[in-house]
Amino acid sequence: MTQPISVVVLSTGLDNFKDIRRALSAEQRVKLLAGGNDTDQVYEEIVRLKPAAAIIALGPNADHAVRFIERLNAECPETALISAAQDSSPDLILRSLRAGAREFLRIPISAEELRTVLDRVSEVLTKQVESPKKKGRMVAVFSSKGGCGTSFIATNLAAATASKTVLVDLNLQAGDLPLFLGLDAKYSIADMVEKRQRLDESLINSLVTPHSTHLSLLAAPREADSADEIEPQHIFEVLQKLREHYDYVVLDPQHTFDSITLAALDQSDEIVLILTLDIPAIRSTQRALEIFDRLGYPRKKVRIVVNRWSKQIDLDLRQVEKFLGEPVVGFVPSDYQTAVGSINLGTPLVQAEPTSKIAMEIRRIAQQMSLGVAPIDESKQRRPFWAGLLKKQSAQPNFNLQTSMEKV
Ligand SMILES: Nc1ncnc2c1ncn2[C@@H]1O[C@H](COP(=O)(O)OP(=O)(O)OP(=O)(O)O)[C@@H](O)[C@H]1O
Ligand SMILES: [Mg+2]
Repeated sequence: MTQPISVVVLSTGLDNFKDIRRALSAEQRVKLLAGGNDTDQVYEEIVRLKPAAAIIALGPNADHAVRFIERLNAECPETALISAAQDSSPDLILRSLRAGAREFLRIPISAEELRTVLDRVSEVLTKQVESPKKKGRMVAVFSSKGGCGTSFIATNLAAATASKTVLVDLNLQAGDLPLFLGLDAKYSIADMVEKRQRLDESLINSLVTPHSTHLSLLAAPREADSADEIEPQHIFEVLQKLREHYDYVVLDPQHTFDSITLAALDQSDEIVLILTLDIPAIRSTQRALEIFDRLGYPRKKVRIVVNRWSKQIDLDLRQVEKFLGEPVVGFVPSDYQTAVGSINLGTPLVQAEPTSKIAMEIRRIAQQMSLGVAPIDESKQRRPFWAGLLKKQSAQPNFNLQTSMEKV
């Protein structure tokens, strides 16, 4: 069956529109969605309808039309732009092609030329349908209560994978993930949102900050102000794009149910729900599960993981699971010195100290989730060079202060 081709037309007058319409009506596969000679209106229609093709008639003011093509090319890269003019001078054709038009038609339009152009548009459309876009797996590491270790676990989970992974800092006002990975991020998610209409592999690569061969970070904006204009729909679009280029997209969202966090959680395939074993965190987790139910998330989308687990915690785990109505699938041991040491040095623990208990448990959780996990780097099995450093630090008042704050 011939694939229908949706078309929107920008004409430069009634005669010219009639001619284009006449030519299009002879082609059964064409579905004319809209047309007119008001550039602003037609521009909006094209952005809204995202047709397979747009025919743009170049009138006496060719500069104006060429700029129109440039803008459209940036905004709707998937629409095939076809310029058309009575004047078919090579200069004009070249200018329109450089601006982003894929084809050129002479007015009055000949049936044969139109057929050739539509055949080429059709070929591109078929390829788009035949090669469905890659859809990487999206995992949100979430806690409805701050300070439970979500950023720490998200970073380590992302670093434990063996495939191309991007870690996304969705704490738009105060993201701190560059510190966890020892990076200085030049660009942020605000830059990606701004350029979201033309994100391709090379643009994405230039906006993320690489940490290792397979792990990159998409940082939160440095200036909280730049986050003000980011809307949930923007985040949705950026995350969709990231999925097309990465095997895993690991998210570190805020601890509230704001609209940006909801956009991220909705889109995620799985939510690793982090809690610590204290009454406020357990309550907060139960509320989060209730909200997930109301949002219609299937329970199998959620995996509950306890962080800072210790046998000394005087709580009956079975009671906790009964209260939550869900089993706990992971227990990341409590080891403040090891955790904070890796954060301070900006190296994920699964890389710096892969055989530590925390790293082993995070790897086990990743494996249980069937994420492809990198084998342990044998050379890292020794105690890391900074272990000695921490011992020395622990004698200092500074460090004692931190430890005691941790106990509060
Ligand atoms: N398993 C653990 N054992 C001991 N300390 C831990 C563990 N996991 C995380 N921590 C410590 O908890 C603190 C908070 O961790 P993190 O910043 O990851 O939490 P968060 O939930 O992301 O907090 P925020 O509310 O700032 O987003 C850090 O100092 C970290 O070292
Ligand atoms: Mg955090």
